[in-house]
Amino acid sequence: MEVVLASSGDIGELFSLQRAAFLDEAVIYGTPHVPALDEQFDAFESRHAESTTFTCREGTRIVGAVSVRQYEERPDIERLMTVPDRRGHGIASGLMDRAEQFIRSEGHGSVQLIVGELATDNRRLYERLGYETTERWHSPDFPDVVLLRMTKQLSG
Ligand SMILES: CC(C)(COP(=O)(O)OP(=O)(O)OC[C@H]1O[C@@H](n2cnc3c(N)ncnc32)[C@H](O)[C@@H]1OP(=O)(O)O)[C@@H](O)C(=O)NCCC(=O)NCCS
Repeated sequence: MEVVLASSGDIGELFSLQRAAFLDEAVIYGTPHVPALDEQFDAFESRHAESTTFTCREGTRIVGAVSVRQYEERPDIERLMTVPDRRGHGIASGLMDRAEQFIRSEGHGSVQLIVGELATDNRRLYERLGYETTERWHSPDFPDVVLLRMTKQLSG
């Protein structure tokens, strides 16, 4: 597997990947109306334009992706996703490593991400990668949903 920067021609495949990957969130929350599934192509394209996105490729296929964007003046890791049929092979871990290298190279000493409290598998992955929960709040859009901010100090 190879992790490379996304190119402009990847946008359609990345949108499809997001729709497929984030069905898991619909299952966790019992509704298809989760932000990553509700996001329409125009909004996806705008967010993509503001982000640095890395893709994991197997041959010509994109099997995973992650984006980095400045959020509240801090680098934020967003939309980490792996195609459903290639999970559990270290694709997301490799993408996180590449995203963190990029953030470090931009001169930042820490990184954050936001995850739903109910997404226990994702939280375990982030904890294994060295992230700690630093804040907890109820989503303003979905009051039943508790969100966690997880942060990691980046060395060197
Ligand atoms: C969360 C998600 C990105 C993880 O993708 P993944 O590629 O399966 O992740 P990894 O393979 O790196 O890690 C998953 C598990 O596989 C294990 N694993 C298996 N082989 C591995 C390898 N060769 N290298 C590293 N880890 C490996 C890891 O230990 C990890 O176990 P853990 O859950 O106990 O920590 C994926 O499930 C997904 O797309 N979910 C839907 C979208 C989503 O929820 N995104 C996150 C939003 S916050």
